[in-house]
Amino acid sequence: MEKISRIRSRISTVSSIVVLTGAGISADSGVPTFRGEDGLWRRFRAEDLATPEAFRRDPVLVWEWYNWRREIIAIKNPNAAHHALVKLERQARSFTLITQNVDGLHAKAGSKNITEIHGNIWKTRCTVCGDVSHNFDVPITILPHCKKCNGLLRPHIVWFGESLDPADIKRSMDAMHTCEVLLVIGTSGIVQPAASFVSTAKGAGAYVVEINIEETPNSYLVDEVLVGRASDVVPLLINRD
Ligand code: OAD
Repeated sequence: MEKISRIRSRISTVSSIVVLTGAGISADSGVPTFRGEDGLWRRFRAEDLATPEAFRRDPVLVWEWYNWRREIIAIKNPNAAHHALVKLERQARSFTLITQNVDGLHAKAGSKNITEIHGNIWKTRCTVCGDVSHNFDVPITILPHCKKCNGLLRPHIVWFGESLDPADIKRSMDAMHTCEVLLVIGTSGIVQPAASFVSTAKGAGAYVVEINIEETPNSYLVDEVLVGRASDVVPLLINRD
């Protein structure tokens, strides 16, 4: 508990906080992770479902997979960790949330300054004109087409082999270079570029805290490792007022 109070007091005195989240924060809401024991990539082949080649080969299959995930996520709610981060954003002078999650649960909880570096499952993008729009249909009509140009719509998700939006990378890297505290919550720390964000922040002098149910490749880099479920641990780090 001494460790928790030390981290809590550090968080409450700094002016710039950045949080990096991964699938582990949503696991406590019942959203499957990718690489855990019941992780999605244990049961499905990413190359069949989450690559541009897969979508070109079989867009119906890919949309069916996203419809299945939409169905799962639609009935899930943010948990205590998501809510604690909303509170932290209200208390902090400068707060940036960078998430690899596409489930939209941070926004549903009420977080404001969010960068969704892997996209959002509730958005579609036109493969012809590039228009991005929200679509909350569950299930979505297969195959969906663009209202503006009738082009085929795809999920607005960054797939394997694709680049992240350069503006998102810049925003994230700027945040890592300038933050005083970085909280790294529920990510396996093996997917780039998010994996390298932690060493960037550390190298720039941030106090880095990892919260995860197990150690990760980031654990040896960070200042503090808190082993536990995000929904149990994150609320303990936030001032209760
Ligand atoms: P992973 O599935 O790779 O890792 C989830 C992490 O969460 C693991 O380190 C777990 O130990 C941890 N974890 C599980 N339950 C937890 C809990 N209750 N509390 C805290 N930690 C918990 O997910 P990501 O790191 O998010 O990309 O994966 C990164 C990207 O790889 C994803 O965004 C996804 C995937 O392919 C796309 O879909 C584009």
